[in-house]
Amino acid sequence: MTDTSIAFVHARRVWDSRGRPTVETDVLLEGGAVGRAITPAGASTGSGEALDLRDGGIAFGGYDVTKAVANVNTIIAHAVAGLDATDQEALDERLIELDGTRNKRRLGANAVLSVSMAAAHAAASAGGQPLYRYLGGADAALIPLPQIQIFGGGAHAGRRVDIQDFMVMCPAAETFAQALDWTAEVYRAAGKLMEAAGSLAGVADEGGWWPSFSTNEQALDTLVAAIERAGFRPGEQIGIALDIAASEFGANGRYELALDGKELTTEGMIEMLTGWIDRYPILSIEDPLAEDDVDGFVAFTRAAGDKVQIVGDDFLVSDADRLRDAAIGKAANTVLLKPNQRGTLTETLDTRRVAAECGYATIASARSGETEDVTIAHLAVGWGTGQLKVGSFARGERMAKWNEMLRIEEALGAKARFAGGSVLGRSSL
Ligand code: PGA
Ligand code: ZN
Repeated sequence: MTDTSIAFVHARRVWDSRGRPTVETDVLLEGGAVGRAITPAGASTGSGEALDLRDGGIAFGGYDVTKAVANVNTIIAHAVAGLDATDQEALDERLIELDGTRNKRRLGANAVLSVSMAAAHAAASAGGQPLYRYLGGADAALIPLPQIQIFGGGAHAGRRVDIQDFMVMCPAAETFAQALDWTAEVYRAAGKLMEAAGSLAGVADEGGWWPSFSTNEQALDTLVAAIERAGFRPGEQIGIALDIAASEFGANGRYELALDGKELTTEGMIEMLTGWIDRYPILSIEDPLAEDDVDGFVAFTRAAGDKVQIVGDDFLVSDADRLRDAAIGKAANTVLLKPNQRGTLTETLDTRRVAAECGYATIASARSGETEDVTIAHLAVGWGTGQLKVGSFARGERMAKWNEMLRIEEALGAKARFAGGSVLGRSSL
C-alpha cells in the first residue's frame, strides 16, 4: 500500500447538458488525494463505439444509468481497490479484463471511463500537478488549434440542416486566446446575420446557432459572410471545418440530403464535397461519408486528402485497429479521439500513438452530451493532440473546456506553443 493506492471509489448519477443522466466517479487515494470525472455521451454515435450502458425502460427516456453507477460502486470499486492510480495502464488493463467484452457491454463504457479518468485526476493531484502535466510530462506545451462550431445541425438540431457541424478554425491566430477572440466575433456576427435574415431559430445541442436555412450551401455562404463581417479574411485568417456526420443520413452507398431534396451516391457526395472545397475556404471535413463506406473514404482521400484534413469519427471510433486498417488503405488522414468511444484512457492513448506512427493528425473531442468536466482539455495538451473540438462558443459545458485551455496556456507562459495551422492533417503527396 502506498499513498497513491486506490482507497475508495464512489460513483453517483449526475446530469449532462441535454438533461440526461450520466456517471460521475470520485477516486480517493490512500494518501488523501481525490480525483473526479464525469463521462460524456454522444448522440450521433458510430456503431463501433464502446457501449454506453443505459437502463432502458420509461424513466428519463430510457437513459438512466443506475446499472452503470452500481457497476462502479460494487464490481469495479472492489476490483481496483489497492491498485496504484499512477499506473494507468495496469488500472485500465484491470478494468478491461473485468468487463471481459470487446465493447464493454458488461460494465458499460460510461462506468469504466469515469473510473479511468477519475484515477488519472487523483494521481495528478497526489503529485501536485495539473492533469496535462501529469500525463505529458514537462514537455507538454502544445496548445491545440480549436475547431469551434458556429451552426449546429443534423442530430443536434432536429436535422434542420443535414450537415452536423459548421465550424471555424483560426490557423493564423498567434495564441489559443487569440483564436477564441476571433471566434467570438464570428459567432456574434453569424448570429446577427441570421437574425436579420430571419434564419435564427435558437441554439443547438453544442451551443451553435440553430439555423433555419433552405439549403446546406446557404449555411456555408452565411459562415463566409460572418467571417467577413467580423473583419477577417476567409481562408487566410479563418477557415471552415465541417462535420458532415454522413452516417446520420447515408448507408449502403446512398445519401439522402433532405434539405437539398437530393439523394446522392458515394460518387455524388464526393463530387458535391470537392465542389465545396473548390468554392469555400474549407480546411477540414469530418465523416464525409458513412462509417460503412470504406471505398468512399479511400476515394475521397485520394481526391481531396492533399487539400483538406479528412477526419474519421464514426468511421474510426478512436479505435487503434480500425485506424491501422484505414492507414493501410489510405482512408482519411486524421482521427478524432473521444475517450468514451473506447472506455479507458489507455486505449484512447494507444490510438493516439498509432496515429503518430501512421502519420495521422489527431483531434481530442468532447461529445454532444457534456458536463462541466474539463478532462478533454488536459488530454489535448498532455497527449499533444494538436487540435481540440468541444462544440460551440456558448453554453457552460462548452465554455468550461475553452476556459480551461485559456488557463493552461496562461500557466505554461512562454513555454506554451500554440499549434496554429501546422497541425492540420493532410495526406502526403
Ligand atoms: P456526438 O457528436 O457526440 O453526438 O457523436 C459529436 C461528433 O460527431 O463529432
Ligand atoms: Zn463527428
